[in-house]
Amino acid sequence: MSRILCYGSLNIDNTYTVDHFVAAGETMSSLDCRTYVGGKGLNQSIALARAGAEVWHAGAIGEDGTFLLEYMAASGVHTEYVQVLPDVKTGHAIIQRTLAGENCILLFGGANQANTKERIAEVLSHFEKGDILLLQNEVNELRELICQAHEKGMKVVLNPSPMNEKIPFDVLSYVSCFLVNEVEAAALLGCGEIDEEEGISVAQGLLQKYPGTEIVLTLGGKGAVYASEDECFWQPACKVKVVDTTGAGDTFTGYFLQARNEGMAAKDAMELATKAASIAVSREGAAPSIPVRGEVPGE
Ligand code: RIB
Repeated sequence: MSRILCYGSLNIDNTYTVDHFVAAGETMSSLDCRTYVGGKGLNQSIALARAGAEVWHAGAIGEDGTFLLEYMAASGVHTEYVQVLPDVKTGHAIIQRTLAGENCILLFGGANQANTKERIAEVLSHFEKGDILLLQNEVNELRELICQAHEKGMKVVLNPSPMNEKIPFDVLSYVSCFLVNEVEAAALLGCGEIDEEEGISVAQGLLQKYPGTEIVLTLGGKGAVYASEDECFWQPACKVKVVDTTGAGDTFTGYFLQARNEGMAAKDAMELATKAASIAVSREGAAPSIPVRGEVPGE
């Protein structure tokens, strides 16, 4: 099995339960407010660890976020490459969650935007050819991360989320595996919108654009599609009562990656990731909703 480094965001998630998302010009009271451990990077590291991976997390927090480190360490993630920076706030998210489990998220990058080329080189010096680097798009210097890892011969796995102009499109040919939702897939393909029913042809379109990669296209309640040069198939979603979708995609990513790293067939890895994500959506919060492997049916 390869060693996995997740270089990504760590956030304090302030989650407000609402009966609808607040509209422009509207002032409204929330029904509840909770603070959770989150951040796409942190969530994916926790999902990897709970799936059984040996995972290192790299990134940065401020002094107000040391509880995130304690939470990660208690979940089995190695945290020695997370910097605690003075005079910078830890990244945070303001999340509105409806009673139907939908969310919308406002991010403050804080320490997640404090990465430097030198720091990346220092962290990557502890890894080598064949190790895996997992990335999302909530930290700065994504292009540098991809290029330095490629140069070392590391395998780059990218979840380009959230999709925005900071994605370094010109170096995406260095990526070996993409995990995307429909918005991210549309942006990578350069088209306005995609039809969920067209999941197979969208995943194949991505594969054509990025030959030799593995493509995982997640489509929420409709399931997910896997495509590689060897196979392409649809993985149906599990039917569950949705409480909070925050972190479900991150759970899928961590479980899928660890299952493939263990040598599991793509079909089995997709099924495992789907089951794990369906547990995550049935619970509140981001990182706290991620199951340990033994909770996933059949494991
Ligand atoms: O993917 C879910 C995560 O997105 C949340 O934990 C929040 O911090 C945002 O980064």
